[in-house]
Amino acid sequence: MAAISTRNSLRTMISGRNFLAIIFCLFSYGFCLETDTINAGVVLNDSATIVSSSEIFTLGFFSPNGSTRRYLGIWYTVTKDTVAWVANRDRPLNDSSGTFSISADGNLVIMNGNQEIIWSSNVTSNSTSGRNTTAQLLGTGNLVLRDVTGSGTLWESHRYPTNTFLPAMRIFHNTRTGQRVSLNSWRSPQDPDYGNFSSGLFAVGIPQIYIWNNGRPIWRSGPWNGRVLTGVTRMYSVYVDGFSVATEEDGTVVFTRAFRQQALMTNYLNTEGVLVEAAWDNQKRKWNPTWQAPIDDCDFYNKCGPFGLCYSNNRPKCSCLTGYEPKNKEEWDSGNWSGGCVKRKPLQCDRDNNATDKHKVDKFVKITLVKVPDFIQWSTGIETECEGLCLGNCSCRAYAYEQGIGCMFWSGSLIDIQKFSRDAGSDFFVRVAYSEHDEKKDKKVIIISCVVATLVAISFCLLLSWWWMSRRRGRSVTLEYEGGEVGQLNSSEIRLHNAMDKVNVEELPLYSFEMVENATNNFDVANKLGMGGFGPVFKGKLENGKEIAVKRLSTESGQGLEEFMNEVVVISKLQHRNLVRLLGCCVEKDEKMLVYEYMQNRSLDVFLFDGSNNILDWRKRFNIIEGIGRGLLYLHRDSRLRIIHRDMKPSNILLDEDWNPKISDFGMARIFGGNQNQANTRRVVGTYGYMAPEYVMGGRFSEKSDVFSFGILVLEIVSGRKNTSFYSDELSLGFLGYSWKLWNEENVLDLIDQRIFSSSSLAEIMRCIHIGLLCVQEIPVNRPSMSTVLSMLSSEIFDLPVPEHPGFMDMWNGSHFKTAESANKVTITVLEGR
Ligand SMILES: *[C@@H]1O[C@H](CO)[C@@H](O)[C@H](O)[C@H]1NC(C)=O
Ligand SMILES: *[C@@H]1O[C@H](CO)[C@@H](O)[C@H](O)[C@H]1NC(C)=O
Ligand SMILES: *[C@@H]1O[C@H](CO)[C@@H](O)[C@H](O)[C@H]1NC(C)=O
Ligand SMILES: *[C@@H]1O[C@H](CO)[C@@H](O)[C@H](O)[C@H]1NC(C)=O
Ligand SMILES: *[C@@H]1O[C@H](CO)[C@@H](O)[C@H](O)[C@H]1NC(C)=O
Ligand SMILES: *[C@@H]1O[C@H](CO)[C@@H](O)[C@H](O)[C@H]1NC(C)=O
Repeated sequence: MAAISTRNSLRTMISGRNFLAIIFCLFSYGFCLETDTINAGVVLNDSATIVSSSEIFTLGFFSPNGSTRRYLGIWYTVTKDTVAWVANRDRPLNDSSGTFSISADGNLVIMNGNQEIIWSSNVTSNSTSGRNTTAQLLGTGNLVLRDVTGSGTLWESHRYPTNTFLPAMRIFHNTRTGQRVSLNSWRSPQDPDYGNFSSGLFAVGIPQIYIWNNGRPIWRSGPWNGRVLTGVTRMYSVYVDGFSVATEEDGTVVFTRAFRQQALMTNYLNTEGVLVEAAWDNQKRKWNPTWQAPIDDCDFYNKCGPFGLCYSNNRPKCSCLTGYEPKNKEEWDSGNWSGGCVKRKPLQCDRDNNATDKHKVDKFVKITLVKVPDFIQWSTGIETECEGLCLGNCSCRAYAYEQGIGCMFWSGSLIDIQKFSRDAGSDFFVRVAYSEHDEKKDKKVIIISCVVATLVAISFCLLLSWWWMSRRRGRSVTLEYEGGEVGQLNSSEIRLHNAMDKVNVEELPLYSFEMVENATNNFDVANKLGMGGFGPVFKGKLENGKEIAVKRLSTESGQGLEEFMNEVVVISKLQHRNLVRLLGCCVEKDEKMLVYEYMQNRSLDVFLFDGSNNILDWRKRFNIIEGIGRGLLYLHRDSRLRIIHRDMKPSNILLDEDWNPKISDFGMARIFGGNQNQANTRRVVGTYGYMAPEYVMGGRFSEKSDVFSFGILVLEIVSGRKNTSFYSDELSLGFLGYSWKLWNEENVLDLIDQRIFSSSSLAEIMRCIHIGLLCVQEIPVNRPSMSTVLSMLSSEIFDLPVPEHPGFMDMWNGSHFKTAESANKVTITVLEGR
């Protein structure tokens, strides 16, 4: 419900949204309608407004600050200063005599005092005259014009955005017709007329977002890889927000964003050509910027010229790619980088046919965390094919690989390359002449041989200790696979061995014992962060100031080596934003240690189960749920290996400074063979309360046992309660039993943590509970896979199935079994706690 009213009565209308208010309204002001629509015959004069049913948007006449001209626009109800859309941006009214109405031909029109049409929605059709239409301001800030007969939308303001991106707006580019919808900046804060800057999607090749100044690019987002824009830092924290780029049947590539947060968000292109995202602070009554682009020098398009690399942590920021040198050394050194760089040595293809070195093959140099250059050519392909494809084509200068895109290639100039220090970009491979490579090698030959010698020695030690372990146990590390009923057992055993052999210890930096000892202040108890799967974890600080977390294998017990090796094998092969990153290891003096990136906000259990703080609001929690889901999906499906984590629990979910979750502790993870879906183990490892019933009871585990643990995690995140905190519950149903009871009694609201309870996100919270219950169903095949879970979370799958009763294993403490009656009168067996 909304209202057309004078501004004086607006307040009444917004606050008193009940029957009485409407009656009051109808009787005291004859012209006032409780609607967000404009029908034929209704005339909105200069002081009238209508409000969307969401109350977020208001439509009416306004003047920008510092101007007296009148424009018809849609603004955020919270502040008239933030205008999201303007109709007559280039035809302002000079006085307040303007009106907004539906004309005789059914179009929306703005007329001045002389009854001249100064703006029209311009819908033409053969039956325009006498068309009966109605306009409505939707909750998304979209003003739509429809035929009263209901035959679809004739016109909508979302199709003609000004400078603001609104929820559900479609920014698109049709590469066949060239048709495009993009944002356009205001000329100045006083003048909404067309400005010089625009921003939108350019979808030739791989979709990217650009900001243009008079059509020249000034910023580029990097390619969309199906999940994120790869050249945008911190994309991850906004990507909860339902970002998507999709290609429709007619070739239109559409960018949308759902804005799923609680807070009111806006996203606009300002008059300086900067894309700004801001959240409304209701207390301070102002917008807080949360993101912007471009933000630093290196973000500007082609800052360092062709073949130049921009890295804001470097001084100077610009450098030439390996194998290239400044085109004009003087200019370059004086800080004018626009000329860029040129090749230093001819590549194989460019070399003279008579030359003796004609057949020496070019090499590639890898640069990590790179916003790859513009003008991408691509082909679907697997990672290992890209290098050969590039090498085989003389015009190919560089290549890269992104999951979700395939191989990307570049020929001609490499334009707009930026390096990040973290959290964005791709691995990028530049082609260089063989001689570049040799020369570099010569210079570093001593260092490298030292490193190699050390590596060999250490690999040998590792191998030796591994061999020793195997001997000591009289078995290989894969002993857990024994006793299984699964046919492919042997092949998976072999795979694990193979994986072991292929541990690229060389790729893993080694830290000396001394270095780690200094970093952790000789393993000071004060630096102890907690106990990991196989030993204590310490916080440390390297000499360069970088903070690390060190997991130390207990020396006295012979235990844990298996887990240690397992963790090295698994995690050294994985890379994902939601998995903790292994920085290196230390194997020295009987010591085995793993060095990880340090996580500012420690682990999920710290804040979740401590009722005394309110740090984890719903938005963070949802981000965490989704992040864990993506990490698990990567383990199960997207990584090169298929991995079952087996020990998902809040203390294994670490949180970085932006509260992004990272799965840690792979000591118990298992690598699966290609076709294998389930395995058995005699040694059940994991944490009670999070393990799936079929695993605890039968030792059978599969992806679906991780899904079960994920379900428990989701329910814990929503309820803010640890599943074991229910042991003493009078219902003695345990966490799942209790949740299930509330679900069946339709009392699920009782489960929700009071700290996050809010009506605006209630639907999403309820959805998460529903998904959590689907994940903890007793029968593994009924549980959704992680990819389905993610589709459910993002509402791509909207209708959720009804959950079956969960596996009531959370009461397990090994004491005894007890029969209890659940809410739906099904007799089930639960394990009673002490
Ligand atoms: C509507 O059409 C007229 C004539 O074709 C044109 O001058 C005017 O700019 C158009 N208005 C809009 C809002 O597109
Ligand atoms: C338009 O529709 C309204 C309500 O349905 C009706 O009262 C009116 O006569 C119609 N006008 C025309 C021109 O058809
Ligand atoms: C837009 O660009 C033109 C040409 O570069 C320039 O003359 C004009 O001042 C710019 N307008 C604004 C509002 O900056
Ligand atoms: C930078 O160098 C380019 C040629 O490479 C030249 O056209 C331009 O004027 C120079 N800019 C400045 C500020 O010197
Ligand atoms: C390469 O060899 C051909 C014949 O063998 C000769 O005609 C040509 O001049 C040579 N090119 C160069 C650059 O030496
Ligand atoms: C080599 O690359 C160029 C540019 O990418 C492309 O046009 C050409 O078809 C490729 N040639 C071959 C043989 O693949």
